[in-house]
Amino acid sequence: MYRRSRPDRYASTGLVNEQGEKWQHLRRHLTCDLTSPQTVLRFIPQLNSICDDFLNLIKGSREHDGTVSGFDHLTNKMGLESVCGLMLGTRLGFLERCMSDRAATLAAAVKAHFRAQRDSYYGAPLWKFAPTTIYKTFVKSEETIHTIVSELMEEAKSRARASANDDGMQEIFLKILSNPELDMRDKKAAVIDFITAGIETLANSLVFLLYLLSSRPDWQQKIRSELPSCGELRIEDLSSAPSVKAAVNEAFRVLPTVPFLARLLETSMTIEGYTIPEGTFVLAHTVTACRQEENFWRANEYLPERWIDVREPHAASLVAPFGRGKRMCPGKRFVELELHLILAKILQQWRVEFDGEIDVQFDFLLSPKSPVSIRLVEW
Ligand code: HEM
Repeated sequence: MYRRSRPDRYASTGLVNEQGEKWQHLRRHLTCDLTSPQTVLRFIPQLNSICDDFLNLIKGSREHDGTVSGFDHLTNKMGLESVCGLMLGTRLGFLERCMSDRAATLAAAVKAHFRAQRDSYYGAPLWKFAPTTIYKTFVKSEETIHTIVSELMEEAKSRARASANDDGMQEIFLKILSNPELDMRDKKAAVIDFITAGIETLANSLVFLLYLLSSRPDWQQKIRSELPSCGELRIEDLSSAPSVKAAVNEAFRVLPTVPFLARLLETSMTIEGYTIPEGTFVLAHTVTACRQEENFWRANEYLPERWIDVREPHAASLVAPFGRGKRMCPGKRFVELELHLILAKILQQWRVEFDGEIDVQFDFLLSPKSPVSIRLVEW
């Protein structure tokens, strides 16, 4: 509704919201570089350096016994730095101990935007009839993000003109910018949508992954034994550590940050005798299915080994943390690589401990209740 009221800024409601032909057009022109394995692989050096800065930030926050309080806050910064780096082709400094004012404003606006979006989806839709507080918060945060992202895009364009080198980090951003098939307003909206779609999802997934692994010191030890003891990690190092991938897959099965998939039906369909009309909003609760004994062996336990030695039942296709089909998350490849890399780097240095159980809330996504404290203890 807001984007439709601002044709000066938006040519469409954006990739995340559009349906039909308009969505197909945006998807075709906005996501093919992001989903290409080559582009993601070329991003590895920058991702390594972003992960190292994240580890330095953690080091600066660790108490003498290894406790890191407000760990969820740090993972959010990590999400911001990596997704903005990917989409804008530049490092923004969210992982520095003192963020710039602009970075802090952007971080706060992204958070407010996310909350307002959640509340407008799930609360009474009064905002459709009058500008409620939620709606005003949404508009204010969207405008702040739009302004800052526009500035950053202008700066990145000037830098790219000045350097004109073939930099892996700038690749996606420059390709989107130079695509003649897209309206400039759609390019900006896309960068905003990618950034807002990618931050909390990544941050929550990392918190859940470490929390679940804290119950498996043996698996942490196994991961460590499969990795080089220090130094920059290469893609080959990750490929020869199958326990890293198993740990991440299993975390997505047990505690995915996106617990269901949503679709607006384009045509009516009949399931077990019930006809659902065209235009119905349908939810598929994948997390519920993943925790049923008929679908997974010892379904409620965190057992990464099931991804290495399969024990039936094992309905792997139900694990869909990034969705399924033509609307599948375009950030999947990038996020998987990032989670594998961060996990490997953390476990190279520390083992992970967590006291008690994590409080999870449904926050549009499944999110940890803030603040989260974990312990990172020297091996
Ligand atoms: C752990 C991190 C992430 C998770 C779990 C996640 C999960 C998802 C899921 C479940 C969907 C819906 C897919 C469907 O309906 O089939 C989605 C869509 C989307 N995601 Fe992600 N995502 C993550 C990170 C990212 C990142 C880093 C980006 C951007 C770089 C991103 C951009 C998007 C976009 C633009 C869409 C909408 C796609 C469309 O409607 O065509 N996501 N994501």
